[in-house]
Amino acid sequence: MLTKIQTLNTEFLQAIENIKDQKQLEDLRIVYLSRNGSIASLFEELKNVPKEEKPLLGKELNRLRNLAEEKFAEKKSEFEKLLTKKSQQIDLTLPGRKVELGHKHLLTQTLDEIKSIFKGLGFSIFEGPELESDYYNFEALNFPADHPARDMQDTFFVNKNFLLRTHTSPVQVRLMEKLQPPLRAIMPGKVYRNEAISSRSHCMFHQVEGLCVDTDITFAELKGTLVAFTKQFYGKDLNYRFRPSFFPFTEPSAEMDITCFLCKGKGCRVCKHSGWLEILGCGMVDPNVFDYAKYDNEKYTGYAFGMGIERTAMLKYGITDIRTFFENDVRFLKQF
Ligand code: DAH
Repeated sequence: MLTKIQTLNTEFLQAIENIKDQKQLEDLRIVYLSRNGSIASLFEELKNVPKEEKPLLGKELNRLRNLAEEKFAEKKSEFEKLLTKKSQQIDLTLPGRKVELGHKHLLTQTLDEIKSIFKGLGFSIFEGPELESDYYNFEALNFPADHPARDMQDTFFVNKNFLLRTHTSPVQVRLMEKLQPPLRAIMPGKVYRNEAISSRSHCMFHQVEGLCVDTDITFAELKGTLVAFTKQFYGKDLNYRFRPSFFPFTEPSAEMDITCFLCKGKGCRVCKHSGWLEILGCGMVDPNVFDYAKYDNEKYTGYAFGMGIERTAMLKYGITDIRTFFENDVRFLKQF
């Protein structure tokens, strides 16, 4: 029995010296130190040796087990240290991490394009306040006192006289108060409406307003300018039409439609089977508005127009839900 213990001792010491990795170390542990390993079976044998030999053999066997456990723990920590050292080393052969470049939001891109086209047509750019008075938002634009937009239901009133502007048209009046004709300007910005948020409407969105005032400005000029814009923005080949409409601040008023991109005018779900898509509202400035702005309405005529930027981008890029502009999901933003 003593010889067996000594042989096992030598054998174990040799074996552990030759271990090269953690896997081999684990195999070694199973052979020598596990519940059915060779050391454990020697302990089993110990039960059968004569009583007087037990103390010495037991001592030797315990020594062997302690030694084996100690050596095993030493090796294990050696391997673990090696592993952490390796993971801390810099691997210069790894490919670098790509730094992603951000880009402008689709609405900013769309507005930039609209601005650049109108700049090319001789328009300047102005902005007005989002917190607006009832006077500029409604009264000076010839809205009658009982117009539904003046209702709390449709407009965010801050108090009796102030509100979040419902359109960019009030900037027209502010501009006319500041500058004398000839005037050619576009006025972009945020607008607010008290509407339930859905795929088609939001309580906040963007518009671009346009205004041109001079002596002898005619409806033909309005058409020429808007057709030039539309062809540059949406493409040369599309068809367009002007449809009579009504706005309190223009007379006559119209809405401009273009052929539906999707069905090319045949009629589909997007154009509600009409073949046409409405892209903007426009008209000749109502003489009453000139009165409010203190422009001589005998001397001057002008045209105005307004379009929603979200709507414009939705039409151009086939986006079906207005909420995606404001959710800032990068999977959406990255596409443009
Ligand atoms: N302000 C109108 C709206 O929010 C849009 C509009 C229509 C603006 C006709 C105009 C215009 O300047 O002439 O629905």
